[in-house]
Amino acid sequence: MAGTTEKDDKPLFGRPWIFIRGVPAMKFLPPEGPPEVAFAGRSNVGKSSLINALVGHKGLARTSNTPGRTQELNYFVPEGYSGEAGDLPPMALVDMPGYGYAQAPKEHVDAWTKLVFDYLRGRSTLKRVYLLIDSRHGIKKNDEEVMTLLDKAAVSYQVVLTKTDKIKEAGVPRLIAETTEKIRKRPAAYPGIIATSSEKNEGLDELRRAIGDTVEIANI
Ligand code: GTP
Ligand code: MG
Repeated sequence: MAGTTEKDDKPLFGRPWIFIRGVPAMKFLPPEGPPEVAFAGRSNVGKSSLINALVGHKGLARTSNTPGRTQELNYFVPEGYSGEAGDLPPMALVDMPGYGYAQAPKEHVDAWTKLVFDYLRGRSTLKRVYLLIDSRHGIKKNDEEVMTLLDKAAVSYQVVLTKTDKIKEAGVPRLIAETTEKIRKRPAAYPGIIATSSEKNEGLDELRRAIGDTVEIANI
């Protein structure tokens, strides 16, 4: 586990990351192992782009203008671990299919949505969900539904605003204040909203630190 070899001493985001697995249904999930941190949110909110920006590798997670790009739970880990017992990565980042709308056949969308919801409420190694909200749209009804599911399952989540480059700079503190107020009474919502732009590389260090702290605590 973490801290046992030289490579574990490198900062999590100071080394290359790799894609290890796409999971189309719950039965294909890897055995529960290292802590997992998942990125959830409506289709097109910028989940895959944010993962690429965090790890500094543009083409790692596939992104698209068309909602419904990510169709599986995609696992990413820092490079250099065999994955065998005793040489597991310190954590995995999980990119999720979006919910809400997608330009794809309804039965596909229904299957991904079920996968997302089943994973979110039933994975013991899932240590934190980053719930991404588009700065232009704010919290929508289906985001509320996901928050309620996470509250009920006692899965810790933190709200991350995306695409702040698309709104006026002065609007960001106001949006943070409004969003904070909206989630104030939610039991599993981690306090503090992180405002990001993958396009302008904003808020990334704050998010990297938050993920690093989550993993450190989980690996104690
Ligand atoms: P699905 O996998 O379909 O659910 O989408 P996603 O949430 O993974 O979104 P993705 O990262 O594919 O990005 C969707 C679109 O938003 C792409 O055209 C991105 O280039 C764009 N985008 C993502 N992040 C930002 C950002 O910070 N600023 C701007 N301006 N555009 C962004
Ligand atoms: Mg995606």
